[in-house]
Amino acid sequence: MKFKTVKTAPIEGQMPGTSGLRKKTRVFMEPNYLENFIQATFDAIGGGAGKTFVVGGDGRYFNKDAIQVILKMAAGNGATKVIVGQNGILSTPAASHLIRLNKADGGFILSASHNPGGIDEDFGVKFNAANGGPASEALTAKVFEATTTISAFETIDTDDIDLSRIGTTSHGNMTIQVVDPVSDYQALMESLFDFDAIRALFVSGFTMRFDAMHAVTGPYGTAILENALGAPAGTVTNGIPLEDFGKGHPDPNPIWAKELMDVMTSDNAPDLGAASDGDGDRNMIVGRGAYVTPSDSLAILAANAHLAPAYAAGLAGIARSMPTSAAGDRVAQKLGIQAFETPTGWKFFGNLLDADKVTICGEESAGTGSNHVREKDGLWAVLLWLNILAVRKQSVSEIVADHWKTFGRDYYSRFDFEAVASDKANDMMQNLRGRLDGLTGKSFAGLTVVSADEFSYLDPVDGSVSNNQGLRITFEGDGRAVFRLSGTGTQGATVRLYLGQYSGQNGDINQDTQTALQNVRDAAFEISEMQATIGRVDPDVIT
Ligand code: G6P
Ligand code: ZN
Repeated sequence: MKFKTVKTAPIEGQMPGTSGLRKKTRVFMEPNYLENFIQATFDAIGGGAGKTFVVGGDGRYFNKDAIQVILKMAAGNGATKVIVGQNGILSTPAASHLIRLNKADGGFILSASHNPGGIDEDFGVKFNAANGGPASEALTAKVFEATTTISAFETIDTDDIDLSRIGTTSHGNMTIQVVDPVSDYQALMESLFDFDAIRALFVSGFTMRFDAMHAVTGPYGTAILENALGAPAGTVTNGIPLEDFGKGHPDPNPIWAKELMDVMTSDNAPDLGAASDGDGDRNMIVGRGAYVTPSDSLAILAANAHLAPAYAAGLAGIARSMPTSAAGDRVAQKLGIQAFETPTGWKFFGNLLDADKVTICGEESAGTGSNHVREKDGLWAVLLWLNILAVRKQSVSEIVADHWKTFGRDYYSRFDFEAVASDKANDMMQNLRGRLDGLTGKSFAGLTVVSADEFSYLDPVDGSVSNNQGLRITFEGDGRAVFRLSGTGTQGATVRLYLGQYSGQNGDINQDTQTALQNVRDAAFEISEMQATIGRVDPDVIT
């Protein structure tokens, strides 16, 4: 083994977005592209010397190669130890857990989450800090800064490291511990939930289908749901992780998880349908014919969490991202605990969780999680639902209907306009931003604006401020429209329009979602002048 310093030069555009650096795979495969970003990360955290890291990814194309690069660079930067998932596999929540469990200094997670994988698709790298959570904005800014001045990276000259066998090996001054990707995570789940009650639920004939979408949760789902909890073989579908996710789009929503949705709306629908994304942090929950929106799922999980052992003592607080509906806030109010509203991005929950201000967090983008790790956690959400179903002995739709009866219903939908020319998307936002101040009191498509502003977040723990986090407009009658540009796309800009309409406490909870949202949607189109600015009002995806 020989230490090696390799000369390099800055590469443009290595600015991490909502969740790490995400680019086309071929971009990551360009000479020094990955190396520069990894070295910049080591530089931004004050070097790798003497440190322990966790490394793993969702198994997509280029995962294995990228891991070899990172392992060698960790050794080159003087790291003491790297813990890596067998064959380079770790789900994002499992990586977060391993960082915390082993008191590591941080971790590299290779994934572009729910984006398709393959040489012509997407790849990504994310650094998580010692708390197990995504790097703060301050740290990602430092990383970006370092990418603009980089002149060399450190690595070692050695053959590729065998990651197929569990165990510890030495590589000069660094040890590499290859671990089973599932076992520590499974033990954590067993410590949170009543596995006996869930086992009994399956024995009683309860049926479910968990769609792993050919992504990382296949082995986790099989080990936990089928082997540990006794769900019949075949409960986990698409359970073999593939480098291209079977050419699918591993995003658990009614559009991309259509195969599951079709089953759930058929005569043979099982009691519960669930799915997770590329790296295992997102979830979708659907009962017989009843899709549960992520915003509702957060609220329902929060309202019932005390039924699971880990949350029996109650919750400290509930946090949601700003575009997520206020359903969770209503639960917080009833429970007499605090509700927090953060910008989009799981990293913003980290401080609140670390400071014990919140126990449960969630986002409209199919993410829910708790203080057990510092990432959202797809299987965790599924297991909490199972635990609640096992205790309440009601169906998913009964639980949802009961929730709406108690709290009122937050009708909710997101419209995504993908691959919009960046300048046009920016113009639209800029144009709307410029008119926000004059909107209050005016009517659009028959709805009067009550407030209009651009969301800024003041972190109550460290006092940091994050500006430009979305344009939000509320209407008379408890309607809301939010405009944001996605921070996770890899092509042009994705405009997100989030629509919400509250039914009121004793209002109509049985409307069709898009019908209930029609007025807010029309008003949003009129206010934003979307047709004129981006030339579209027909979204690519509706969630
Ligand atoms: C990732 C992040 C989430 C975020 C989502 C959508 O999954 O982890 O925190 O909500 O992307 O982000 P975007 O910027 O594309 O709306
Ligand atoms: Zn993900």
